[in-house]
Amino acid sequence: MSKVIAVANQKGGVGKSTTTVNLAAYLGSRGKKILCIDIDAQGNLTTGFGIRKKDLSCSTYDILTGKESIKNAVIQTEFENVSVVPANADLAGAEVELVNMEQRFNRLKMQVLTIKEDYDFIFIDCPPALGQLTINGMTACDELLIPMLAEFYALEGLTQLVNTMKLVRANYNPSLDILGIVFTMYDNRLNVSRQVVEEVEQYFAAKVFQTKIPRNVRLSEAPSYGKPVMYYDKHSKGTLAYECLGKEILGEPLSSIMKLRLNIAKD
Ligand SMILES: Nc1ncnc2c1ncn2[C@@H]1O[C@H](COP(=O)(O)OP(=O)(O)OP(=O)(O)O)[C@@H](O)[C@H]1O
Ligand SMILES: [Mg+2]
Repeated sequence: MSKVIAVANQKGGVGKSTTTVNLAAYLGSRGKKILCIDIDAQGNLTTGFGIRKKDLSCSTYDILTGKESIKNAVIQTEFENVSVVPANADLAGAEVELVNMEQRFNRLKMQVLTIKEDYDFIFIDCPPALGQLTINGMTACDELLIPMLAEFYALEGLTQLVNTMKLVRANYNPSLDILGIVFTMYDNRLNVSRQVVEEVEQYFAAKVFQTKIPRNVRLSEAPSYGKPVMYYDKHSKGTLAYECLGKEILGEPLSSIMKLRLNIAKD
């Protein structure tokens, strides 16, 4: 059974694209067939996989506006089992065009349904806003993966995100659920980080992933080489972190050694 996961948080720079690229690469390396859909006009997911935004003949813009079918936009990457529907700045125009279109919140979903069964996982990398594009992402998916920073203001943002999710559930996608919340750029030496995690765990309990993605310079360098971190530095902490997150998503237990290496073992 294939699963469609939208990676969403309206706050900018929380690790949505980094999480999508690296999780996809790990799951692909485990033999899962993966499609990543970039629905952000910044095209960071696209660049992260080494695809040149300038050369696109077909992108998310074309499929949302009905000019092309999604099948024609799929690009196979050089990374095992990972394909991408790319985006570039054209997509900024879609926000305006969509306003007057029929089924404007359902357009991504209609396209995704035509290819869903070809993949084990489809990831949708959302932009940092709760506009029409993100609502298209939330409508097209089964579950939300929410990357967030362990800082005080993140909690307010989470409330807003959950309210939007409820709205989408009530109007467009009744079975929409949260896959999980993953803390990114995490530093467990900071009291505030631990406090925020505790608070989020009180509300979302089992929805918070054990894996916390640490701040790791390799994760920020890899996109400039157009590679997921596991293909850039196999032994980095970033690689280990996304392996752990991938295992959790596959329902596999994390070994104590992995937890210790990632510094998430509870004392
Ligand atoms: N764990 C990490 N350690 C260090 N740097 C990171 C980590 N995760 C992400 N970054 C860097 O932080 C910046 C923001 O990350 P990213 O682009 O993934 O966030 P985003 O939520 O997709 O942003 P946007 O909202 O603009 O789409 C990038 O420069 C990225 O390389
Ligand atoms: Mg992004």
